[in-house]
Amino acid sequence: MDFDKIMNYIEDLYKNDSEMDRKTFIEGTELKDFIPVVDNDVARMLKLIIYLTKPKKILEIGTSIGFSASSMARVVKEYGGKIVTIEYDEKVARQAEENFRKQGLDEVIEIKIGDAKTIIPSLDEEFDMIFQDVDKRLYPVLFEDCMKLLRHGGVLAAEDTLFPVLDLEERWHNLIEPIKEFNKLVVNDDRLFSTMLPIGDGFVIAIKK
Ligand SMILES: C[S@@+](CC[C@H](N)C(=O)[O-])C[C@H]1O[C@@H](n2cnc3c(N)ncnc32)[C@H](O)[C@@H]1O
Repeated sequence: MDFDKIMNYIEDLYKNDSEMDRKTFIEGTELKDFIPVVDNDVARMLKLIIYLTKPKKILEIGTSIGFSASSMARVVKEYGGKIVTIEYDEKVARQAEENFRKQGLDEVIEIKIGDAKTIIPSLDEEFDMIFQDVDKRLYPVLFEDCMKLLRHGGVLAAEDTLFPVLDLEERWHNLIEPIKEFNKLVVNDDRLFSTMLPIGDGFVIAIKK
């Protein structure tokens, strides 16, 4: 199977369908120096999960300029759900806030500015869905805290889970081991039922039984 051909076909098929695609979102964002955001196919998958499961409270770990949070918020807004998203880079977080305001999504999204390593263990509420997209070294570190925060029947999603088999630049090689560890934690955890999809840079989707 020619994977690039498949991905090009899918993106071409959906090119006029996206209400807010990644390229347009980035072009409309003043700040240009930020960590990359999810691909359109991952944004579509997040939205599909939300349409299917109608989570009232979503936790996103890793906001960047707010593309994935905005994508999710457009669906969540339709039925009164809320998103909490965490970002420690203040400049990037302020840009995300501005993007949320511009799109009329600021009522739906609360951004917490600070280190996920300290914010996550301090949270004392249940979430219906958690989207993990922070520094990859934190995926295994925060796994058990995420499990505590996720309600039974809730969805855990994570991006970049195919790092171990992608041709990454050498500067990203230190992220491979933590992702391997995270993937094993998910797969071997009896509390979860999961699968991994080859969209974006690899996307884990799991339900807490
Ligand atoms: C891949 S980006 C998130 C992309 C975003 N989910 C999207 O698709 O629109 C990861 C973000 O996590 C932030 N980050 C990294 N380490 C963090 C930490 N310890 N606490 C909070 N945010 C962190 C980075 O600054 C970066 O903006």
